Amino acid sequence: MTANENGVQSEGQRGWVQSVRWNGERLDLLDQRLLPEEIVYLPLETPHEVWEAIRHLKVRGAPAIGIAAAYGVFLGIRDAQEDESISREANRRRLAGEVAKQADYLATSRPTAVNLFWALDRLKRLTQKLVEMDISHGEMKQAVLTEAISIQAEDEETNRRIGEFALELFEDGMGVLTHCNAGGLATAKYGTALAPFYLAQEKGVSLKVYADETRPVLQGARLTAFELQQAGVDVTLICDNMAGAVMKKNWVQAVIVGTDRVAANGDVANKIGTYSVAVLAKAHGIPFYVACPMSTIDLSTPTGEDIPIEERGEEEITQGFGKRTAPQGVKVYNPAFDVTPNEYVTAIITEKGIVRAPFAENLAKLFEE
Ligand code: MRU
Repeated sequence: MTANENGVQSEGQRGWVQSVRWNGERLDLLDQRLLPEEIVYLPLETPHEVWEAIRHLKVRGAPAIGIAAAYGVFLGIRDAQEDESISREANRRRLAGEVAKQADYLATSRPTAVNLFWALDRLKRLTQKLVEMDISHGEMKQAVLTEAISIQAEDEETNRRIGEFALELFEDGMGVLTHCNAGGLATAKYGTALAPFYLAQEKGVSLKVYADETRPVLQGARLTAFELQQAGVDVTLICDNMAGAVMKKNWVQAVIVGTDRVAANGDVANKIGTYSVAVLAKAHGIPFYVACPMSTIDLSTPTGEDIPIEERGEEEITQGFGKRTAPQGVKVYNPAFDVTPNEYVTAIITEKGIVRAPFAENLAKLFEE
C-alpha cells in the first residue's frame, strides 16, 4: 500500500477488499466510485466528510452506510471536552445531546436504507442509557466507539449466517442472477445476497452467478463483478436488459438480491431495476429471494408505498462516468430504488432464518422470537 502527500492510500488488488476500516484514529473508507480501476482509501476525520461520502456513493450499500455513519458520530464527539463547572451527569447529558445532534445530521445523508437510521438510533439509545450510569465523560466517548465497532463486527457474523441459510436454497451447478451490489463491499464482509456465493466457494459447491450491470451507476459491473472475480467466484456480467433472455435460456434457476428496506408487509425496496427482475423471475417460474439482516426490516413502515425513495441527479443518466449520452435539457427521472411487492418475493433470508408468505405475520413473529 502506498500513501500520497494527501494521505490517500492506494493498493494493488487483493483477495478481499474491505469497504470500511477504523484505523484506531480515523475512518479509512474505500472510495467505491473509483472501483474497479483504483483501490483508494479516503482518510475521513469529520462527520461532514462521512455525510458527503455517503451522499456521493463513496460508501454505499445499506449495512455499509450504517457502519460508516456510526463511526461518523464518534468522529463528531471524540474531541468533546468535559466542562468542570457542571456535574458529571450534566456532562454525560450534554454528550448524549451531541451524539443525537451528530446522528440526526448523518441521518440526512440518504433516505431509503433503514440500516442507516437503525445504526444511528442504536448510538442514540446507548448514550441515553449511559447518562444514567456513573461513568466518566471519556468512558462514555469510548462506549460510542465500541458500539460502532460492534455494529461492524456483528454485521460480518450476521452475513455469514445469512449466507448459510441462503445456501440451503441453492444446489450444485445452479445459475443464480443478482442485481446491484449486496456483497462484501456493501457490508462489513460477505454481503447479504452475495454471502451464499462465498460460502459455496468455501464448501466446494459450484454456482454460476449472473450479475446485472445495474444502470445507471453500474454497481453490478463495477462492484459485484469486481468482488466476485477477485474472490474467484464464477461470475458473468450481463446488461440489465439481458436478464429476461438468460432466464428464457434456462441459465438461471434462482434470483437473489439485497434490500435497503423491507416493509412490515414484506414489500421490498432495492436498487432500481429490482422490480423488473422480480417480474421476469415470476414469468419464468424462477424463485426470487431477498437477503438482508434483521436491521433492514422496518416494521414501522407498513407497506412499500410508505418507503421513501431517493431521487438522484439527472447527470447519472445523461452523462454517467463523464460521457454525455443524452441531449442537453432532456427531462430525466432517476429514482435510485424501486419497490417489489411482496407477491413477487419467494422468501426473505435473514440471520434468524428463512421467512416466507404470509410475510406480515411471519416477519412480525421473527421479531417476537
Ligand atoms: O445506491 P446503493 O448502491 O447504495 O444501493 C445499494 C442496494 O440497492 C443494495 O442492494 C442494498 O443496499 C443492499 S446491500 C447489502
